[in-house]
Amino acid sequence: MIETCRTQPFSGQRPGTSGLRKPVKTFMQPHYLENFVQSVFDCVEDLAGATLVLGGDGRYHNREAIQTILRMAAGNRVSRVLLGRGGLLSTPAVSSIIRHRGATGGLILSASHNPGGPNGDFGIKYNSGNGGPATETLTEAIYTRSQEIDRYYIATTNHVDIDVLGDTHLEAMKITVLDPVADYSELMESLFDFERIRELFRSGFRMRFDAMHAVTGPYAHAILEDVLGAPEGTVIHGTPLADFGGGHPDPNLTHAAELVRQLNRPEGPDFGAASDGDGDRNMIIGHGCFVTPSDSLAIMAANATRIPAYREGLLGVARSMPTSRAVDRVAARLNIPCYETPTGWKFFGNLLDAGRITLCGEESFGTGSNHVREKDGLWAVLFWLNLLAVRGQSVAEIVAEHWQAYGRDVYTRHDYEDVDADAASRLMQDLRENLPGLVGQTVGGSHVTAADDFAYDDPIDGSRSEGQGLRLMLGDEARIVYRLSGTGTQGATLRVYIERLETRRSHLQADAQTQLADLIRFAGEVAGIAERTGRQSPDVIT
Ligand code: G6P
Ligand code: ZN
Repeated sequence: MIETCRTQPFSGQRPGTSGLRKPVKTFMQPHYLENFVQSVFDCVEDLAGATLVLGGDGRYHNREAIQTILRMAAGNRVSRVLLGRGGLLSTPAVSSIIRHRGATGGLILSASHNPGGPNGDFGIKYNSGNGGPATETLTEAIYTRSQEIDRYYIATTNHVDIDVLGDTHLEAMKITVLDPVADYSELMESLFDFERIRELFRSGFRMRFDAMHAVTGPYAHAILEDVLGAPEGTVIHGTPLADFGGGHPDPNLTHAAELVRQLNRPEGPDFGAASDGDGDRNMIIGHGCFVTPSDSLAIMAANATRIPAYREGLLGVARSMPTSRAVDRVAARLNIPCYETPTGWKFFGNLLDAGRITLCGEESFGTGSNHVREKDGLWAVLFWLNLLAVRGQSVAEIVAEHWQAYGRDVYTRHDYEDVDADAASRLMQDLRENLPGLVGQTVGGSHVTAADDFAYDDPIDGSRSEGQGLRLMLGDEARIVYRLSGTGTQGATLRVYIERLETRRSHLQADAQTQLADLIRFAGEVAGIAERTGRQSPDVIT
């Protein structure tokens, strides 16, 4: 039976950079999830009769939410749901299943890299028929709907078994429980030279992949160990846990510290990588050598033709504004376009759909290509493995040669987390007003040559996105960027991105914090970070 439930709007259901993300306790309030899901369903065209993909990263409340959404999908006359077994699907796997099976869209349950468990976060995002995150227009429409909603539709049927592969029914709706890994693994095999990678592992190459007790565990076990023959033990923290083992499933130098320690040991493995809660982020690390996401994107672009899927070359590349300009230098040499978009994967969607770009990436540990419409953690790891196999060099050698050829965009990001929200927005507001006065000021010998508030005009649909981060451009191809995070759930997070081009060979390997010290000091002073946030130093440095 299908029931119409009366409800009232909850304030604050506006999706952020990547879906609606809130403490799990907020999501567990009666009607909270239902209201949002119905708002999505009310805004998706041709929902009745549609096929939807559904899965999540396995965090606390995932299984319960899946049951609710299945009943609501039936209540809204969806004809079929493709569900990952156990309610598990990584974000890139959802994207690939939507595309390859011609679904109308999909719902992903994840708060990405935010901690899970009863006191952690939960999240939900809708991806459209191209496999990519909902556009700004759709997201706004969903939010508007959530503020006026007064009913939702739900089947009263009991529990669905989500752990057995195959078809079942819920009212008139068909539910197909899929192996979460199979489609994705096949897609990867079509892009990369798996035989070369097998040879690499056979030759004694040692790798550690840290799945951080999140969704990539099953994918990494299957692809790296079972299909590619990496020795057992290559994948660590490979069992998805509802609270991610108490950890923070964010692959960076702070949260993947154990992996970093292993790679830094003299007898440590040759290659390390990690992914986040929902499997779309990646961290790449060599033996004693961390590759910044900005450099990783540039190196991938420069070497793309060595990988089967990209043998014909790249149509173009794109990066989010705060990502370093390393990839711009590669694009210039390859004579292909390079687009600069606001932070958020959704901004790459139009460029990918229109065939303007093949590769794209963000400083926030995201890299991807036109194979899906999300960033893809394991894809990036396989790209690197394929590259290491073909070049027969270490990660450190590949990075060093890249810097010698293009120069090094020395880069760092400083995060101030859980800052008082009003203080953070005042800081940004005052800085925005002061921008014109900063032009001409000098830092360690170089001048501020321009300062602006980044806005993006989408070349495909003509939409304009304003207020996307404050930029100071300096001589020596240096740059300072300030923006407030769009993904935090507590207070505000201020991010400061600092970079400078280094071309002197003798300085290429120097420590980034030391090389950028003048700029870091200047960045703090002009924004008054210490006085306004009460913080003497950042919480996370990457
Ligand atoms: C998510 C999005 C990314 C984006 C990142 C930015 O991971 O999927 O596309 O780069 O958030 O997060 P921030 O906290 O800096 O807004
Ligand atoms: Zn993620």
